[in-house]
Amino acid sequence: MSDARLAIIGGTGLTRLRDLEITRREVMHTPYGEPSGPLTYGQYHGHEVIFLPRHGAQHTIPPHQVNYRANLWALRNAGVETVLAIAAVGGITVEMAPGVIAMPDQIIDYTWSRFHTFFEGDGMEGVTHVDMTYPYSQELRETLIAASRELGLGAVEQGTYAATQGPRLETAAEIDRLERDGCDLVGMTGMPETALARELELRYACCAVVANWAAGRSKGLITMDDIARNLEIGMARVKQLLPEVIGQ
Ligand code: HPA
Repeated sequence: MSDARLAIIGGTGLTRLRDLEITRREVMHTPYGEPSGPLTYGQYHGHEVIFLPRHGAQHTIPPHQVNYRANLWALRNAGVETVLAIAAVGGITVEMAPGVIAMPDQIIDYTWSRFHTFFEGDGMEGVTHVDMTYPYSQELRETLIAASRELGLGAVEQGTYAATQGPRLETAAEIDRLERDGCDLVGMTGMPETALARELELRYACCAVVANWAAGRSKGLITMDDIARNLEIGMARVKQLLPEVIGQ
């Protein structure tokens, strides 16, 4: 990948990057409030990376209370041009089995009442509408897909992400509706993060890790134990993928 500054936003199951040789931590204050934690700078397999755990270092910030604007603004302010977002999701369609990693190419926003834009408030010179036809950076997605193929990780290379409000999981009927809408994956953090990244002109893509079959897509209920077990499998794949992606 180019030398443009790269950030990794870690999701549930990735609050820490084990191979990151940390050089410094920077506490950032932004016009939008505090990010999820200090930006952690370090060398990752020979390349400079900034890491930010979306839910905080202790995984205490629920999806609807993440300060997405502060996180992305802080990264942009630190000179970041490329953001790779790691996110735990539920699998809706048949290929999205627990433990699988996937690179969505579309997203539908079902969240509400989150601060979802930088383009509001005093001092605006006009109304801005950013293009979101293709919400993720195709260039970064291709890098992820190439790395996954190289390693034989069997990633699902496209799919539509449903961003729900949380923190509760969905009902089976809600998942049926999401599938009728064309969604393959469901998670709680994809929006407004994806849209805010576009507003800041960041090169942004998501590597989703399927933690569970979405509600009603398996016989039993969704348990936290199952989620933890599947995330471990999926995150092991992510940890193989990241050095390959960053080295490209
Ligand atoms: N639904 C929403 N978000 C999720 C899920 C889910 O089933 N699993 C992990 N994140």
